[in-house]
Amino acid sequence: KKYINVAIDGPSGSGKSTAAKGLANKLGFLYINTGLMYRAYAYFLNENNLDINTNETACIEAIKNARFIFNGDDVKIDDQDVSDILRSNDVAMLASVVAANAKIRNLATNEQRKIASENNVVMDGRDIGSIVLVDADLKFYLNTSIQTRAKRRLAQNKDIEKLDYESIYNDIKERDYRDMTRDIAPLKKAIDAIEIFNDNMNLDQCVAHLYEIYLNKI
Ligand code: C5P
Repeated sequence: KKYINVAIDGPSGSGKSTAAKGLANKLGFLYINTGLMYRAYAYFLNENNLDINTNETACIEAIKNARFIFNGDDVKIDDQDVSDILRSNDVAMLASVVAANAKIRNLATNEQRKIASENNVVMDGRDIGSIVLVDADLKFYLNTSIQTRAKRRLAQNKDIEKLDYESIYNDIKERDYRDMTRDIAPLKKAIDAIEIFNDNMNLDQCVAHLYEIYLNKI
């Protein structure tokens, strides 16, 4: 294996994306946010009035025929910049429905494995350590209480939409439930992942902690 792969999984709002980005920066690795892929597929299908649960074949066909470009936090679909809209709570909720579909997961997983086989990567998601990169050199599972996650989401989204704590809290619970109980690739800690509870860490502390573990293990 030529390249180093670091997997970071965890529930929504556990800070994995920002931590993964920070760690990738420190290591000079490529950062891949797999949630963004599911968000992009979900947004695209919704915009085109395609429902994965009633018309799977047409959905997969449409995704294959569209041009998705993922570049860090920036996403383009057929040349349209959708980076901001993909971060909305509505798209997150749609994504967790679309992400339960086997064919959609297959598309995304193949793409993710290809990128990881050609680059040193830090990849974040729900199933990276458990399914996508089973042989990753290092696996983290970030965990945080729902209360803290809801507060973080609120702060994170305040510039793009008005949300209240209560509805964010309930949406996180609903999304966790969907992500953890689905049949395919449910969110769970890989047995060989290092679990980190980061309620009491800020972002810099979390990145520094991951980096220190990386230096000790790799
Ligand atoms: O990480 P993020 O919150 O952007 O992910 C949005 C949704 O995409 C998650 O709720 C989850 O349902 C799905 N997802 C997934 N597998 C991944 C990454 C995200 O199922 N590897």
